[in-house]
Amino acid sequence: MNRVIIFDTTLRDGEQTPGVALTVEQKVDLAHRLAALGVDVIEAGFPITSPGEFEAVRRIAETVEGPTIAALARTHPADIERAWEAVKGARLPRIHVFVSTSAIHMERMLRSTPDEVLRMVEQSVADARARCADVEFSAQDATRTDINFLIEVVQAAVEAGATTINLPDTVGFATPWSYAAMFEAVMAAVPPERGVIYSAHTHDDLGLAVANSLAAVRAGARQVECTINGIGERAGNCSLEEVVMALKVRADQFGVQTGIDTRAIGPVSEAVSRATGVVVPPNKAVVGANAFAHESGIHQDGVLKDPSTYEIMRPEQVGRGSSLLVLGKHSGRHAFRSRLAQLGFNLPEPALREAFNRFKALADRRETVDDETIARIAREVMDHGEGAARSAAHGG
Ligand code: KIV
Ligand code: ZN
Repeated sequence: MNRVIIFDTTLRDGEQTPGVALTVEQKVDLAHRLAALGVDVIEAGFPITSPGEFEAVRRIAETVEGPTIAALARTHPADIERAWEAVKGARLPRIHVFVSTSAIHMERMLRSTPDEVLRMVEQSVADARARCADVEFSAQDATRTDINFLIEVVQAAVEAGATTINLPDTVGFATPWSYAAMFEAVMAAVPPERGVIYSAHTHDDLGLAVANSLAAVRAGARQVECTINGIGERAGNCSLEEVVMALKVRADQFGVQTGIDTRAIGPVSEAVSRATGVVVPPNKAVVGANAFAHESGIHQDGVLKDPSTYEIMRPEQVGRGSSLLVLGKHSGRHAFRSRLAQLGFNLPEPALREAFNRFKALADRRETVDDETIARIAREVMDHGEGAARSAAHGG
């Protein structure tokens, strides 16, 4: 009950990022990295979509050990057959069947009645279950579905043998409290002895994907579907690194654990960015270039004295090297002196003051001042006027 299953869909929903198409080799390589990261389920792809996609899922199923390997399928018999053919070589295979349940999707996309959709759910889940003991069912656009119909659909899916029920916020429309309330209502309508795992799957159209998944966990969901760097359709999916670190750093709020080796997060984030070509924004939580960088003098002074003054997690904890003090116009003497020392300069007081003033004058005109420039300032100050200040520690 205290374990949250991390279902990684970087290779399926993440690959649906506009402009991204991974080769079979890239998908297999990333799947091995995800397994080493400690994800519980890898959604390897949607096998019916292309021969390459089928081959990638098949190879992942046959070579990646540890996690469950899932393949996506619509309710069509051909999709389920293809998904099973692709994952059946896995030690722990899963078929993931989905159909839309909101009025707008049923009427405008599927052109089917609610009764017809209910029959599709019953038949497809039973068909998947006849092949595979682990079947996930997703009610696409659950957050815009009539709650009574959603409950009927979920009950039908559980009756037909679904072991995991996923309630996606397909269009990123939910708020944390509405998403939690939906889980509570659905879970109350299914007998707990069925042992169903409830799953959150959120999109970031309103920037609420992580918050919504966390709210679902508070309401009792025990699987979270997410992607590395939050990549995915439109504004993306719930970001794995953010949701995992929120559950860990705020364990006091959630009381749950994941199986993720958080020290592997940084390297996997870089590998996904390289393979997909999707650049991580500098201010992205956990994995952005600035996530552990400090520029203001007050913050730098605090971090030099004790990093926990301005860092709620350590960069090493997420495989990100060490904190960075960026020297710019807001930086203070403490950080400047510490950088000089790192560069091998140990200036006595008058020379330090002179060098700091020169640095500040320059920083007013530039975004940041790099190490080369700082070393040049130190050398100039030592060579002119304050020459006696040449440091014994400095070789140049
Ligand atoms: O967002 C969504 O509804 C999906 C389903 C296919 C699970 O990605
Ligand atoms: Zn999705």
